[in-house]
Amino acid sequence: MKIIIVDSYEEMSIKAASIVQRQLNIKPDCVLGCATGHTPLGMYKELIKAYRRKEVDFEQTVFFNLDEYCNIDPKNKQSYHYYMNHNFFAHVNAKRDNIFILNGMAKDFDQEIKMYDQQIKAKGGIDLQILGIGENGHIGFNEPGESFETGTHIVQLQESTINSNSKYFPSKEDVPTAALTMGTKSIIQARMLLLLANGPEKASVVYETVKGKVTPQVPASIIQLHPNAVLVIEKSAAAFI
Ligand code: GLP
Repeated sequence: MKIIIVDSYEEMSIKAASIVQRQLNIKPDCVLGCATGHTPLGMYKELIKAYRRKEVDFEQTVFFNLDEYCNIDPKNKQSYHYYMNHNFFAHVNAKRDNIFILNGMAKDFDQEIKMYDQQIKAKGGIDLQILGIGENGHIGFNEPGESFETGTHIVQLQESTINSNSKYFPSKEDVPTAALTMGTKSIIQARMLLLLANGPEKASVVYETVKGKVTPQVPASIIQLHPNAVLVIEKSAAAFI
């Protein structure tokens, strides 16, 4: 595990974008796993800037999103469909056919999750998976206590996740209670992991992730076992390591 500690959110974003960019320049048809949340926003902005400078091209890139809330319309501003389109896809030359995001409005969730795993496999697996981290250690929406052996699945969100994600919704009551997420097993199978963390509220969980025991109680701790994981951590989030 390679840990890069940087001075600011801006520096984290620039560093993360340069890692993604390097990967895309080596392999233009790279399969990129995308994350949402506040943390990677700056990185997406930097990638858009690089695209405008013609330093990176997304025409052949395949995108798989980590997760999506259940029963939330893709047009809803809090949906991860909206987030990805609004913050990234609409600004670069990503091809519609190459974008895969779990459908939180699917009539049959079992079929949806099965299909997603098959699609990932059919595209050759994830080359580079971008990850944020929840304050309780979740990656994607893999909550503490869940098995490390899961593929894409449906998850009931824990109270701590609902509380911390409520800042993005009009009220706590508006936060969906369930989500579809790529599983820990699917994430760990990516050829490379890039985890970003920012802000003092992530300091304890970053410590647990990097220095603690590898345990389903801290889902992100699994990355200790990954042979090619890079963590770009802003200094306040790295305060305890
Ligand atoms: C959500 C997402 C995660 C993300 C986490 C942290 O729960 N499902 O993928 O990593 O939030 O978000 P933030 O970056 O806003 O702290």
